[in-house]
Amino acid sequence: MTTIPDYDIARPATCPLDPAPAMRARQEEGPLTRVRLWDGSTPWLVTGHAEHRAVLGSSKVSVSPFNGIPRLSPAEAAAMEGMAKQENAGGIGFIMMDDPEHARLRRMVTSAFTIKRVEAMRPETQKVADDLIDAMLAGPKPADLVEAFALPLPSLVISNLLGVPYDDHDFFQSNSKVIINRTSTPEQRGQAQRNLGQYLDGLIGEKLTNPGDDLLSGLVERVNSGELTRPEAAQMGVLMLFAGHETTANMITLGTLALLQNPDQLALLRDSDDPKLITSAVEELLRYLTITHGGLRRVAMEDIEIAGQVIKAGEGIVVVNETANRDPAAFPDPDRLDLTRDARRHVTFGFGVHQCLGQPLARMELQVAYLALLRRIPTLALAADVEQIPFKHDGFVYGAYELPVTW
Ligand code: HEM
Repeated sequence: MTTIPDYDIARPATCPLDPAPAMRARQEEGPLTRVRLWDGSTPWLVTGHAEHRAVLGSSKVSVSPFNGIPRLSPAEAAAMEGMAKQENAGGIGFIMMDDPEHARLRRMVTSAFTIKRVEAMRPETQKVADDLIDAMLAGPKPADLVEAFALPLPSLVISNLLGVPYDDHDFFQSNSKVIINRTSTPEQRGQAQRNLGQYLDGLIGEKLTNPGDDLLSGLVERVNSGELTRPEAAQMGVLMLFAGHETTANMITLGTLALLQNPDQLALLRDSDDPKLITSAVEELLRYLTITHGGLRRVAMEDIEIAGQVIKAGEGIVVVNETANRDPAAFPDPDRLDLTRDARRHVTFGFGVHQCLGQPLARMELQVAYLALLRRIPTLALAADVEQIPFKHDGFVYGAYELPVTW
C-alpha cells in the first residue's frame, strides 16, 4: 500500500519565491495525486495547469463549506463549523457560496471593477503612489517598503472605492491579518470576522441616512430597494475590503523583491519606453510569485473525470496555484522570471466563476506601483539579506511582513 504524503507548503529560506519542494514533488508524481491533511483526510491535490483550469472551470464542483470542502487548518475547520451552525452565516461572503446565490451577489458589484471604471481610478492611484514615495524619500533610510508604500497604496485605493474612512486603516488591516493567518486560533479568527462585520454594518447604517458616491452607498441603495439584506451588504463590504488590500500589498512587496533579485529584468522595465512591457511584466510577476499559494478548496458534487482519473462525488479537492503557474507544459522554462513572456494564462487570480473580481483593479495598482518605484527611485536596493526577510509562511496569502529598502 502506498503512503499518502502530508500536505506541506513550507518554502525553504534558500528560495523563498519558489513553490514548496513538497508541492513540486507531488507535481512530479502527476497532475492529480492525493495528499494527507492535518485532520487525516486525503483530498485530491491538483498541481498541473490544465487540470487546475479543468477543476475550477467545472460546474460539478462546490466551494461551499456546507458541502464539505477540505479544511487546511484547525482554525479554518472551526470557522467553517461556525458557519455551518449559522453562527457566522456566509463567513466572508460570496467567495464561499455556489451559484445561483454567488452569481446574484457578485453581479451587484461587477460594474465597479470594469476596465473602464478602473482606468478612471488610475490618475488618483498614481497620485497616491507619488505622495507615498515623496514621504518615504523624505524619511530616514533604510525604510520598510511594506509600511511606507506596499500596504498603504492598495488600502487607500480600496477605502476610497468602497467609501471606508482610511483613518480606520489600523483597525481593518490588523483584523484582516488575523483572518488571513493560518496560525490564528478559531476564537481569534471568529472575533476578527465579527469585528469587521460590525464595522461594515456601522458604515452601512451611516450611509443609509447619508449616502455618498461610493460602492458601499451603491449597496445601500440595493438594501433600500429590497434586493439585498443589510447583513449581506455588510458581508460583501468585508470581503472586498479584506480581499482588496492584503493581496495587492503582498504583490507589490514580493514583486519589488523579485525585480531587485533580477537586475537585468528590473533595468529592462525601468528603462523601456514600450507601454506594453509593464502590462506583460505584471502578468509575469503574478505568475512567478503566486502569492495565492497553498491551494483553493473545492468538493466534487458529481463524478468528474480529469487526467484519466475519476474524482468521485463527495471527494475534496485542493487546487494548487503555485505549481500550475510553474508547470512547464504551460510556461516553458517556468522558473525563470521573464517580463517579456506571455504569462496571461497564469492562475494567480483563480479560474472559473470565482475568478478574482478585483483583478482589473489589482493589475492597474501593480502597474502604477512598480513603475513609480523603479522610475522615481532608480537606485532602490534591498537593505537586508534575503535570509533576514520575514516571509509570511503562515498566511493564506504569501508575502513579507517587512521589506527593508534603501536608495
Ligand atoms: C494581486 C492581487 C489579488 C490576487 C492575487 C487575488 C486573488 C484572488 C483569487 C485566487 C480568488 C479566487 C478564490 C477562489 O476561487 O476560491 C479571488 C477572488 C476574489 N477577489 Fe481577488 N485577488 C487580488 C486582488 C483583489 C482586489 C484588489 C479585490 C478588490 C475588491 C479582490 C476581490 C476579490 C473578490 C470579491 C473575490 C471573490 C470572487 C468570487 O467568489 O466570485 N481581489 N482573488
